[in-house]
Amino acid sequence: MFDHVSLAFSELCVSHLSAGYNADMTRRYSLADRFLMDLSQGLKTLHGGEQLKHRESPGQDAGNDTLSPRERRHAAGLMRVNHAGEVAAQALYQGQAATARLPEVREAMEEAAREEEDHLAWCEERLAELGEKPSRLGPFWYVGSFAIGAAAGLAGDKWSLGFVAETEKQVCDHLEGHLKKLPEQDQRSRAIVEQMKADEAHHGETARQAGGANLPRPIRDVMKLASRVMTRTAYWF
Ligand SMILES: [Fe+2]
Ligand SMILES: [Fe+2]
Repeated sequence: MFDHVSLAFSELCVSHLSAGYNADMTRRYSLADRFLMDLSQGLKTLHGGEQLKHRESPGQDAGNDTLSPRERRHAAGLMRVNHAGEVAAQALYQGQAATARLPEVREAMEEAAREEEDHLAWCEERLAELGEKPSRLGPFWYVGSFAIGAAAGLAGDKWSLGFVAETEKQVCDHLEGHLKKLPEQDQRSRAIVEQMKADEAHHGETARQAGGANLPRPIRDVMKLASRVMTRTAYWF
């Protein structure tokens, strides 16, 4: 029920965007437009990842499920963590795009966010195949991450890009850990995690090459702590 209401509201947000155009005919959005777009994207992230997919899941042709009930529960817990991470990634990128100063940086952020949409959809699909649902704390992950992303964007592009590079590095390490924890025969989840890891490494490299600064150690440590809270909680809830 709530899913249908939020998706209808999301469509309503998009239909109310006021279209202005720059001299080169690219669209110009007001602050209110951007707010509605972010709200619409947030609702889709939480309640309709499937709509956001650009590429088919790499897990779809990766063998059949032959997991025991215990393995299935464990795989679902891990994939719920990954899904929560992708909800957070969506929000981080949207938050940064909302406050980034240089248009090229904003575009790079939005492109990375589009790639994260696939990850979100793939994890959501895999969770459904495993008979489980995404984290119930999704709105909390989204709002918190959006605020962190917006703060990183306000700190300036070199820090914002540095934040992306560090986030993606930590995500790659995390996904590497999941490849060790996922049941060996869960080829479908493993194929998804492998592709995500490759994409995240690419996002991190792009951000570094675009001028991302190395973040100070205390910030990196706080980021690790925040992600530990999320990964431990989302496994269960
Ligand atoms: Fe991702
Ligand atoms: Fe990424």
